[in-house]
This record gives sequence, C-alpha cells and structure tokens, in this order.
Amino acid sequence: MADKATLTIGDKTIEMPVLKGSTGPDVVDVRKFYAESDMFTFDPGFTSTASCESKITYIDGDAGILLHRGYPIDQLVEKSSFLEVCYLLLHGDLPKADEFEKFEHNITYHTMLHAQFDRFFEGFRRDAHPMAIMTGAVGALSAFYADSINVDDPREREISAHRMIAKMPTIAARAFKYHMGQPFVSPRNELSYSENFLRMCFAVPAEDYVPNPVLTRAMDRIFILHADHEQNASTSTVRLAGSSGAHPFACIAAGIACLWGPSHGGANQEALEMLEEIGTVDKIPEFIEGVKARKYKLMGFGHRVYKNFDPRATAMQKTCHEVLGELGIKDPLLEVAMELEKIALSDPYFIERKLYPNIDFYSGITLRAMGFPSKMFTVLFALARTVGWISQWKEMFEDPGRKIGRPRQLYTGPTERDYVAIDKR
Ligand code: CMC
Repeated sequence: MADKATLTIGDKTIEMPVLKGSTGPDVVDVRKFYAESDMFTFDPGFTSTASCESKITYIDGDAGILLHRGYPIDQLVEKSSFLEVCYLLLHGDLPKADEFEKFEHNITYHTMLHAQFDRFFEGFRRDAHPMAIMTGAVGALSAFYADSINVDDPREREISAHRMIAKMPTIAARAFKYHMGQPFVSPRNELSYSENFLRMCFAVPAEDYVPNPVLTRAMDRIFILHADHEQNASTSTVRLAGSSGAHPFACIAAGIACLWGPSHGGANQEALEMLEEIGTVDKIPEFIEGVKARKYKLMGFGHRVYKNFDPRATAMQKTCHEVLGELGIKDPLLEVAMELEKIALSDPYFIERKLYPNIDFYSGITLRAMGFPSKMFTVLFALARTVGWISQWKEMFEDPGRKIGRPRQLYTGPTERDYVAIDKR
C-alpha cells in the first residue's frame, strides 16, 4: 500500500501520510488537512474515522475476530479468568504468578465501600432503574475517594483503576439489593471476584448464598465477554471526557450513562423484553414482518463493526446452554431465540444487511436463569466494561501526544443577523 494519499480539490493537491497499524486497515492521517485545505472532514457517526491509536483491542468485523492484547476472545473465555483479563487489558501482557497474586490481593482489598457511601443509595427511589443508581453512585465516588483523583500522579491513577475494578461489583450489587428492597451484603475477601459478586447479590440475612461452580464460571465468562470492545460509543465517551483531564471516576460515570442507550449496552434488557413480547415461536413471522416494515429493530442483532458472527455471541450462547442445563431450566424463550436466529439468518433482509446475533441476544436468557431481573442486565455490562474503560482511559492519558478532543462541525444554521427587539418580531 502507498504511504501517502493525495486529494485534489480544484487546482490544489493535498498529500496526507498513510499510517500503518500492526494489523487492520491503514489510516489516512488528516491531522494537517484543515491547515492545508481550509476544509474539515465530515463523518458524523465515525463510520470511517479512527479516533485514536490503541494497543488494547482489535476487531476484524468481517472475519468475526476479537483480540485483547492479541489473545483471541474464545481462548480467554475458555482458559483465563476475568481478573486475569483485567490485568491483561490494563498492563498489556498476561501476568506471571507473583504479579497476578499481587493484583488479585489489591483488587480484593479494595472491594469495601466507605460506610457513608451506603447511605448515599437511600436518596434514590426504590423503583429507580439500577442504571440510574449506577450513574449517580459511580459519579459520586470522587466525593469519597478524593485521595486518588490527581490524574498527573501515576500512583493515584493506578489506585483509582484498582478501586474502580474492585468496587464496581459492590456498587452493582447494592443497586440490585436496593431495587429488590433487601439489605446490603458486604464483600468477603476469601471469595473469588465472581463468587463474591453473586453472593453480594443473592445472599439474604435469613439464608447465605451457596456458590455453584458452574454459575460462578458462567458469571466470570460473561464478565470476560463484556470486558472491552475497542472504540465503541461508551469507550469513546470515556476517552473524550478524559481528554479534558477529568478524573477517572467522572469519566467512567459518563461511560455508564452512554452505555445505557438501547443501541448500545441497553440492548440486553431490550432483547429479553422483545423475546418476552414475542412469547411463542408461532408469533415470530409476524414479528419479523414488523422489523422489515421498519416498525422496530430486532434487538440483539446487528453491529457497526461485525458483519459476520459476533464471536462473543457464539461464546454467550454456549454459556447460556450450560447455565440452563445446570439449573435444569427449560426456558421457552430460548426456543424463541433459537428459532428467531434461524429465521433471521436465512431471510434476505438480514442476509443483505449482514445482520447477525450480537452479544446481547443470548445474555438476557442466561442472566434471567441466574436470577437477575432484566433491569440489571446493563448494570452487569457496565461492571465488566469498567476495566475496558479504565484501560482505554489510562492509554489515552499516558499518550504523550494527548490533546483535548474537540470535533468540528458542518454549520447549516443562520448566518450573522442583527438582533430584533421583541415588539418588532
Ligand atoms: N434490526 C433490523 N434492522 C437492522 C438492525 C436490527 N437490529 N440493525 C441494523 N439494521 C438495518 C438498518 O435499518 C439499516 O437498514 P437500511 O440500510 O435498509 O437502512 C442497515 O441494517 C444498516 O444498519 P445501521 O443502522 O446503518 O447500522 P449501524 O452500524 O449504524 O448500527 C446497531 C449498529 C448496533 C446500532 C444496530 O445494528 C442496532 O440498532 N441493533 C439493535 C440494537 C443492539 O442489539 N445493540 C447492541 C450492539 S452489541 C452490544 C454493544 O457492544 O453495545
């Protein structure tokens, strides 16, 4: 490939460097384009724009490949643990045994929340959506942990990263308990990350939670599958917020707010509610007709980057079968989901548009079987994605070429005009 791109505008020729990554498409470096042409580039949904350079996650959407620091997602799901993936995303390599022991200890010993923080939840209505609680609670962390918000201090950056990964399960479990009207359960240091989270969600004063290794492993896998996904909307939000020098607690709260949207992380709740609405296999053709008539979308289907199977969806479907098998649940919604997938994958409307199931298609059925109400699904996504956000924030912050994110626009509003007094309008 050429190392320069040439653009001719009228009688002017502009040359721009072509940059090469380690894999994936080359990029045309347009940074000097405005200075040389007096024009902006226009790409509102970032469909052709690489917003940053990154070494963390790589996706080949046509081949259905997802790599974290080079490691394929299916290998990480099968062989690794969520905490090991956290270390990998944050530090760039899989940890050696002593490095992992230290990391696990650090995370485990940061899981408790300030006692005053627990009272913070009581300000929310009991029927508040748990994502509304998450957005507010995470935004409030800086009021409790102000000793780790100096972004210019590498040690404080590290402490805040550990605090976020450690405290997110405690906050998420509290959002769940508050929503359910049950007392909070404190973390226990002898339990693993996922076991601890499940216990904080499902133990009650009258009955402790008995861990089930299949469900603990499923939870851990679900966390791994959601850990990072390069420059998606919420990650780009975190990076943009951080580009101003904002501390990570504020940036992650911004990411959570963005994730909640139904086109992004909110799709897992919507996908399950859609399956519930369809209800039975015989209603699928009518539902598909509504999708084709553009009345609504098939939630849990389609992706900006994947134009092939989402590798996370394949692993999620396997986990779904394992969980339902372990619990002996025959969920009629699984039958609806599998039939819907079969019909959609053979229908020209979906084939032409390259629409495949994404991670959210099977996660709802799995999480519901594990005992989570649909309003908690996006909270679990946020919990797991926190490590991706914080790793991307850290990479952005440590880039010596960091600049505040400041897009430009194509202005189509009124040109300059004089103010008219109210009685003359
Ligand atoms: N159901 C029906 N049609 C769809 C769907 C869908 N789920 N997704 C895209 N299309 C159609 C769309 O109408 C368009 O058709 P046409 O070319 O005739 O106008 C075509 O496919 C291309 O879609 P697009 O809207 O240009 O694609 P996008 O890249 O802008 O949107 C998306 C990607 C994920 C927002 C979209 O596929 C969608 O809304 N899916 C449903 C929500 C969902 O499941 N989101 C979770 C994404 S994975 C989890 C995460 O990482 O956030």
